[in-house]
Amino acid sequence: MKKSQIEELISRQKPGFSLEQAFYTNEELLGFEWKSIWQTNWLFAGNTAQIPRAGDYFIYNLQKDAIIIIRGNKGEVYAHYNTCAHRGSAICLEQKGNAAKLICPYHQWVYDKDGTLLNARMMPDDFCKDEFNLRSVHVDTVEGLIFICIADEAPDFFNIQKSLTPYLAPFQINDAKVAAIKNYTLRANWKLVAENFRECYHCGAAHPEYCSAVIGANLREDTDVLTATKQKTWQANGLATELVEVTPGTTTYAVRYPLRPGVESYSVDGKKISIPMGTHKDYDAGVIGLVNYPNFWMDAVSDYIWTMRVTVVNASTTDVEFCWLIDKNAVEGNDYDLNRLTEFWEITGEQDGQLCENNFRGIETNGYRPGPYAPVEDQVINFVNWCVEEMKKGLR
Ligand code: FES
Ligand SMILES: [Fe+2]
Repeated sequence: MKKSQIEELISRQKPGFSLEQAFYTNEELLGFEWKSIWQTNWLFAGNTAQIPRAGDYFIYNLQKDAIIIIRGNKGEVYAHYNTCAHRGSAICLEQKGNAAKLICPYHQWVYDKDGTLLNARMMPDDFCKDEFNLRSVHVDTVEGLIFICIADEAPDFFNIQKSLTPYLAPFQINDAKVAAIKNYTLRANWKLVAENFRECYHCGAAHPEYCSAVIGANLREDTDVLTATKQKTWQANGLATELVEVTPGTTTYAVRYPLRPGVESYSVDGKKISIPMGTHKDYDAGVIGLVNYPNFWMDAVSDYIWTMRVTVVNASTTDVEFCWLIDKNAVEGNDYDLNRLTEFWEITGEQDGQLCENNFRGIETNGYRPGPYAPVEDQVINFVNWCVEEMKKGLR
């Protein structure tokens, strides 16, 4: 697809309407999105709780790139391309594990966790090791969430840090326990997954379990009075309540809202799931919803966190990783039941996955025309506009 064709497509985009078919189905346009959105912004990779000990690592696969996310000796986190500086072999062959040193399986060059080349056997005396460290990518963390950026120059991380820290701090994610990780592959364009999680227009009909936990999710109940009362309690308990919206130049959204009175957690029966996390003392923290464009969503209640990492595979395929985090002291069988913990978001997430796939199927047909967003879909408009703006920047 030529630059002029992309320009034309973008200029045809009607404000307040869903995107044209090509934005969801065209592989060349996806290639352009990859460059202008995914290669330039901070991407959520995972949680530090997934790599608690020095040398613990996991691989984040992004298109052809594979990034090793590894814990250093002092708790710090590094991110390197999984390619050897000798002749390019993949170094880590497993998707996760523990490595005191990163040793290439081909000719055994040895790297430290920070990517420094320590040993390159049988190389000449004048071989300069310093020039052959692993190629690292930008990595930063906010309260136990790991973000990477594969751009040469990463955008400022400060805004993400500033807006998410007050919401995340009470959970003490860095010390938390990973209770479960589940991966899904959806036959849908990645933006449809993102759009779906930015509106609750569909919730009343699609999510009976979610609507019985969250008051107002059906868009039929007035929650203003309850929210105002709860906000006072939350503020008195030192919990963040200030709404963060995505504005030009920023990528984060954060909100806290109440559970239905009497509901203690995100659970099918409304009862608590585990012990309160981190510094939470009770089951009264409501729900926090955090987003970072383009690929991070998270919902949390007093006793657990559910993170969602979205990864673009191709125009019609999206990988989704769910991760459930609980307090470090929670003991399975005693304090929580694993099936009860994962059930709520498995049910709700699978309902959403189905909606996204249905959406994609309709968009693929020749009959698809962009349609108007409802006023309650304002966050979807915000997201779609953000994507378009990033692509415009990419064109420049
Ligand atoms: S390719 Fe890694 S040591 Fe040769
Ligand atoms: Fe949904």
